[in-house]
Amino acid sequence: MERRRIPLSDPDEEGVRLQKVLAAAGVGSRRACEEMIEQGRVTVDGQRVRVQGMRVDPEKAVIHVDGMRIASTPGAAHLALNKPVGVLSTMNDPEGRPNLGDIVEGRGQRLFHVGRLDAETEGLILLTNDGELAHRLTHPSYGVQKTYLAQVEGIIPRDLGRRLREGILLEDGLARADSFKMVDAVGRHALVEVVLHEGRKHIVRRMLQEAGFPVKRLVRTRFGPIALGDQRPGKVRNLNREEIGALYKAVGM
Ligand code: URA
Repeated sequence: MERRRIPLSDPDEEGVRLQKVLAAAGVGSRRACEEMIEQGRVTVDGQRVRVQGMRVDPEKAVIHVDGMRIASTPGAAHLALNKPVGVLSTMNDPEGRPNLGDIVEGRGQRLFHVGRLDAETEGLILLTNDGELAHRLTHPSYGVQKTYLAQVEGIIPRDLGRRLREGILLEDGLARADSFKMVDAVGRHALVEVVLHEGRKHIVRRMLQEAGFPVKRLVRTRFGPIALGDQRPGKVRNLNREEIGALYKAVGM
């Protein structure tokens, strides 16, 4: 699709002034944004802009500040939710079961959820109205890593990490972890961290079960550059500018 960029300062021209778009995206005051432009820190569609007064189409322009993409589309939404147990990863459910749509209802935005978590799995799920971003974040070819904390039963042997990294053979093929860490162990209960970049259904539960360690509780604590932190279950927050920039960067946008 051709991108329109209209580098004119006539107020009657189409488009919105770049410093206004930057300020609306939360980059800073208009004055601060003008300074950033002057300092050569802003690119539009890959070209550095140093002149003031350039007009852009905020819906189409790809704008970076200090190499970080900004969300310039008015109404752009990039949210992080801590999905509680029992909530389905769908935006609506014909049978009326609790789902993501219930939690973000009333925002007046058409949101996509970035991938899924099992109903019984908790933790970080991203939502956005940028369809291309959502698509890339879930497509295996972009290799975005997800981190899970699993509470398992059993005494963890020293070689479990190696086995998971080398791959566990499941009924639909080999599944490999990118990394594994033992977090805690008390008696026959352990807390382990598994990082992987694939997204097959029940993948962490199936890998650990097959390795001999049934999962009692599973929480996703990180999705690419975004961490769950201490966000409470059921709570939604807007990602900040750095997090949004890092997400786009993770998938080459
Ligand atoms: N792995 C699982 O087993 N469940 C999830 O929801 C995500 C990854």
